[in-house]
Amino acid sequence: MNLSKFERYPLTFGPTAIEPLPRLSAALDDKVEIFAKRDDCNSGLALGGNKLRKMEYLVPDILASGADTLVSIGGVQSNHTRMVAAVAAKLGLKCSLVQESWVPHDDAVYDRVGNILLTRLMGAESRLVDEGFDIGIRTSWEQAIQDVKDAGGTPYAIPAGASMHKLGGLGYVGFAEEVREQERDLGFSFDYIVVCVVTGSTQAGMIVGFAADDRADRVIGIDASGTLDQTRAQVRSIVDSTADLVGLGRAVRDDEIIINPDYAYPAYGVPSNETNEAIRLAARTEAMITDPVYEGKSMQGMIDLVKKDFFPTGSKVLYAHLGGAPALNGYSYTYRNG
Ligand SMILES: Cc1ncc(COP(=O)(O)O)c(C=O)c1O
Repeated sequence: MNLSKFERYPLTFGPTAIEPLPRLSAALDDKVEIFAKRDDCNSGLALGGNKLRKMEYLVPDILASGADTLVSIGGVQSNHTRMVAAVAAKLGLKCSLVQESWVPHDDAVYDRVGNILLTRLMGAESRLVDEGFDIGIRTSWEQAIQDVKDAGGTPYAIPAGASMHKLGGLGYVGFAEEVREQERDLGFSFDYIVVCVVTGSTQAGMIVGFAADDRADRVIGIDASGTLDQTRAQVRSIVDSTADLVGLGRAVRDDEIIINPDYAYPAYGVPSNETNEAIRLAARTEAMITDPVYEGKSMQGMIDLVKKDFFPTGSKVLYAHLGGAPALNGYSYTYRNG
């Protein structure tokens, strides 16, 4: 397996920090040792996050294509579209975004703060479309691509989460390689990696990366989509195409793809009381800020799995923090008292 044959355009500061979370571990009776890998702090570009690791492998293809406009899609408070707007600004390209009503949520300022505010600030055009949640290919996105062409521009199409893109899985193969190097310095290996999954290429890349040392099934995906079958199918497909691309040299079995559906309720983008308690616990023990759409749900999942003794006592558990905090601003009423 070899990532170095792929061109990578640096958008991040470099390897992300791994830090112990002793107060969170203690709050869970020190059954396991919890660490976080801080991909939420990975870049100076518009607050960073997991999409930049993926986009580092897309940028050379974007530049080679001669495109003048990046076109992508997400929800109103999409982190992904914020990151596409950031990359466009950094490269001096235009950016056209479709932002659909993926979340049944009506905080008064939901479409004016957080991710979408930053997106507009960076000069991207945000087109609000009244369609519900779907991680697949949407006609609204195809229309936006056509509109750029009709106006004489050259679009470069990036699907939701940069996931169903031929190069979308590479960034998180790199995450696994980085963790292996950090483990050498730390002098121990992690027993489990916990990661939020929605459009799929983050977990899929990790699965391929960790399959190289036979621990793909230690990557515990926590679904936040609420549409498990579609997310699982997308992860499966990205695992296969990415394994091929990097030359993993073997097929990844279905039983190596672990996605837990238990924490996505009540819906994508809507936090349960338990999600909110998990967000508060991480904030109050470690000042680590997680959001109600993605990371709060994987935090909730990790906490619950520790409580249920899913992880053997003494396990070292690595929580992949993928970003997403700007969306909290869209939930000001939910957290008005903390
Ligand atoms: C903060 C955050 N966490 C997790 C995810 C899920 O990653 P993926 O879409 O690659 O499954 C996303 C994006 O969808 C995200 O923005």
